[in-house]
Amino acid sequence: DWTMAEFRKTKIAEIRAQVGDKKVICGLSGGVDSAVAAVLIHEAIGDQLTCVFVDHGLMRMNEAEQVVTLFRDHYNIPLVHVEAEELFLGGLAGLTDPEAKRKFIGKTFIDVFEAEAKKIGGADFLAQGTLYPDVIESVSFTGGPSVTIKSHHNVGGLPERMNMALVEPLRELFKDEVRDLGRELGLPDAFVGRHPFPGPGLAIRIPGEVTKERCDILRKADAIYLEEIRNAGLYDAIWQAFAVLLPVKTVGVMGDGRTYDSVCALRAVTSTDGMTADVFPYDAGFLTRVATRIVNEVKGINRVVYDYTSKPPGTIEWE
Ligand code: XMP
Repeated sequence: DWTMAEFRKTKIAEIRAQVGDKKVICGLSGGVDSAVAAVLIHEAIGDQLTCVFVDHGLMRMNEAEQVVTLFRDHYNIPLVHVEAEELFLGGLAGLTDPEAKRKFIGKTFIDVFEAEAKKIGGADFLAQGTLYPDVIESVSFTGGPSVTIKSHHNVGGLPERMNMALVEPLRELFKDEVRDLGRELGLPDAFVGRHPFPGPGLAIRIPGEVTKERCDILRKADAIYLEEIRNAGLYDAIWQAFAVLLPVKTVGVMGDGRTYDSVCALRAVTSTDGMTADVFPYDAGFLTRVATRIVNEVKGINRVVYDYTSKPPGTIEWE
């Protein structure tokens, strides 16, 4: 019977046979899939692999540092950390349309990645953490209505531009299997069990214009929300949970003063593949606790609401 230990051995042999003594470059997103792919490939071919992490400054609290530490210090995997926050935030200035934001981020990401690949002298192969649902999704959509709900951005946009052969060792796996493989490879449980995070990052959780100041406000609220979820032992029961910073100001009262600050919305859903989702049914006490902490601790937010929309008709992300 089939075990992850055997899958690991088989894939390592396959990667070695495919790559030979050539060079491979892998874009890390900070997420589980690209990380597991990179660790597996590194085990197969060692320093023939270089990872590139394009840090767009739209990550959650401390997330970028965690990725860099994990790869450089824990696994000793060659990693280029491109700090491109100013480039991304500069280009996002003035953009408010969700698709315009997504397209700018996707294109800029590829530009930066390509430039870094050139700097290290290029590579023969591009590695990606493509999963089985990604493979079927792109096929099954061709028969359906030709409506783009959202232009998805991840490292998946790269192959068309870069004209490189692909190494995709996770193509047969589902998300839960990738998590099993990650554990088999010794990735920390807390990393492997993380909720999915979209390629465009916090930019699509800040409807309206994205600024450094609003990213910082959202990071604080989101960190409090996730800390409370972990403390309540709910993290693993939820597919995805996050805060959204709305471009709406409302009046409040704090102490004996009037406030006029932004609204924060909280989202949490259960799902098996992200294609459909149900609202996570928190008890009222939990939501009250989170709302109180966010309003008290995060300057710039004076009201918190909970999103009760399932998917469909809502999508998981707000943009
Ligand atoms: P929606 O919002 O369409 O999201 O219901 C479904 C799942 O996909 C994630 N998502 C993305 N992932 N690049 C990604 O890699 C993207 O551009 C992107 N947009 C949404 C979302 O977080 C959810 O898990």
